[in-house]
Amino acid sequence: MKQIKFQALVVSKKEDGGYQRSLQWQTLEDLPDNEVLIKVEYSSLNYKDALSADGNRGVTRRYPHTPGIDAVGRIHSTGVDQFSPGEKVLCMGYDLGMNTAGGFGGYISVPSSWVMALPGPLTSLEAMQIGTAGFTAGQCVHRLLELGVQAPQGPVLVTGATGGVGSIAIRLLAAQGFEVVTVTGKSDQHAFLHDIGASKVIDRQKFLAGAGKLLLRERWAGVVDTVGGDILATAIKGTRYDGVVTSCGNAASGDLPLSVYPFILRGVTLAGIDSARCSMERRMAIWEKLSGPWRLPDLATMCRTVSLQTLDAEIDRMLSGGARGRVVVDMREAV
Ligand SMILES: NC(=O)c1ccc[n+]([C@@H]2O[C@H](COP(=O)([O-])OP(=O)(O)OC[C@H]3O[C@@H](n4cnc5c(N)ncnc54)[C@H](OP(=O)(O)O)[C@@H]3O)[C@@H](O)[C@H]2O)c1
Repeated sequence: MKQIKFQALVVSKKEDGGYQRSLQWQTLEDLPDNEVLIKVEYSSLNYKDALSADGNRGVTRRYPHTPGIDAVGRIHSTGVDQFSPGEKVLCMGYDLGMNTAGGFGGYISVPSSWVMALPGPLTSLEAMQIGTAGFTAGQCVHRLLELGVQAPQGPVLVTGATGGVGSIAIRLLAAQGFEVVTVTGKSDQHAFLHDIGASKVIDRQKFLAGAGKLLLRERWAGVVDTVGGDILATAIKGTRYDGVVTSCGNAASGDLPLSVYPFILRGVTLAGIDSARCSMERRMAIWEKLSGPWRLPDLATMCRTVSLQTLDAEIDRMLSGGARGRVVVDMREAV
């Protein structure tokens, strides 16, 4: 059989201790030996990929490495009956792109338990416009609803609003009739946030004015927080009685400088959200929503598609906090 060659973004450690990214031609021998080989059509850029591409050992322990926690494509070959060659599938999270070569390569080789059929109505491109970031936004919204947050109770706050998780969370919440208030550090992106469904945009520094207080005026019925640190703490302090705060990210900080008062005086619930290890049952339930009742017809307006050749600059932009919406990586030329 003709040897399969494909391109991959490879991150390697330099002699001076820093990390460099380069596009390399690889063969299937460069991939781990797993049950399912997938020819990747699209991947997407998530914050975790940017960290992995920057040599972050909390995400990736072993280099050289190919990041990419998302991949959609067709089964090339498989050792299990569950899937057939040619079938369109989606693989996201688990160890993909962390210590298992990820979607920024033309092929991935993964255990079958990480793979699901592409949810029917979605195109491959749409699935990656959503990707892990959109799936995580979906999980946050699902959790708010599950824990009883309803539109008439008051506004839902979204932080890190212009980012991948934040922007899709705004669209999902607005589409379900919630009043959405957003926090952003980008003074030039207020119009974008209003366009995608924010009724109010708060400047990050203004929002942090109350950070020193133990409790703030009760405003938020729910929160989708993607940044952590003082912003998450301030959001919790301003959450209404019985309100729910979902915490899924740490773009600002992994710390949470807070007292217990919002919990013991206002009954606030802090709900953690993880997409990497979330069960396949829950994944399928969330994707069913994202591809059905929650499908966003105008998703493309907040997404850009780039090639593997131009991905490097997007990674730098994301690391500097400059991301807006979602970035899809077209991998069809990588083989
Ligand atoms: N739990 C999970 O399974 C899961 C899954 C996906 C993502 N995440 C996490 O969620 C977070 C967001 O991911 P993403 O894909 O949306 O990333 P992203 O597209 O880079 O968006 C992050 C946004 O956070 C804001 N931000 C960046 N640096 C900041 C800082 N120093 N202080 C305050 N705000 C800052 C910026 O928005 P503004 O300029 O609008 O404020 C930025 O656009 C990341 O921490 C990621 O690791 C977690």
